[in-house]
Amino acid sequence: MTFGRHTAFIVTSTLLLTGLGLVYATGGTMYAFTHLLYVPILFAAIELGLPAGIITALLAGLGLGLIPANVAAGEPQTGLAMSVRAFAFLAAACITGTLVHHFRRQQVRVQNGFVESVAALVNALEAADDFTGGHSQRVSEIATTVAEALHLPPEQVEVLRIGAMLHDVGKVAVPGQILAKPGQLTAEELRIVRTHPEVGDRILSALHHPQVEAIRDLVRHHHERLDGSGYPDGLAGRKLSTLVRILSVADVYDAMTSPRPHRQALSEAEAMAELASEAEAGRLDHLAVQTLVQLVQTEGKRWEIDSLSELEA
Ligand SMILES: [Fe+2]
Ligand SMILES: [Fe+2]
Repeated sequence: MTFGRHTAFIVTSTLLLTGLGLVYATGGTMYAFTHLLYVPILFAAIELGLPAGIITALLAGLGLGLIPANVAAGEPQTGLAMSVRAFAFLAAACITGTLVHHFRRQQVRVQNGFVESVAALVNALEAADDFTGGHSQRVSEIATTVAEALHLPPEQVEVLRIGAMLHDVGKVAVPGQILAKPGQLTAEELRIVRTHPEVGDRILSALHHPQVEAIRDLVRHHHERLDGSGYPDGLAGRKLSTLVRILSVADVYDAMTSPRPHRQALSEAEAMAELASEAEAGRLDHLAVQTLVQLVQTEGKRWEIDSLSELEA
């Protein structure tokens, strides 16, 4: 369980003051209640980090220094007792804060390692195909540029960057000859291609990431449409998050402006007109389309990333 920084600060202060109050109320520092002060120290080191743990340890040591060893008899503490206690408090804060910091860094490395492995798998999958090379990398770039233009919070842009990189990972389960087939797909082939959002969602169920649900939502729903005509769940309207809407627009734009086995790439102007008509028909998000059109037509944005050079970089 993790707390927000504000809540963690309030909890630490409350635990600290309560601990000091209990030590005083129960007769002084000669009783074992001084050990209660480890609670706010460890809590601060875990929730707020090493510096906060050290500050709490110092405050606990100073606070206890003001309480007599025996309140009723007015007997003061010895300097040795105060020093040993302060040293123990600081040691507890330092060890806990360092261990938690190390553990969290490892956790982030494992999370990033998984995301990078799956992204490498997607890159390799696309690099082997003349038509989809670099697709996911470009979609990720396009989607994050649109999200930034819409001033979404950086954490959401990061979720979108990862989700877009991984959105087609489920295509590992689609036979290559179907993906590269020139001409129309049969109904059965289309059914197989359309399993890729669900397969991708299942692959990512092993992902350990604080935003795993949002990433899986992007992967599972990037082919949904606002009017409910998409797949796999036929979600419509508000059930599609802002990030999913942006990803769908970026995905469609890149697919239209890239050559496919059964058709030539559309020109930029044709792609823009097609996106606008999809938004008009209520299938794609108006704001996301407008933002992309603005970026391409007014600001001259281009995304031409070669998958092989990306892999070498
Ligand atoms: Fe897809
Ligand atoms: Fe895609």
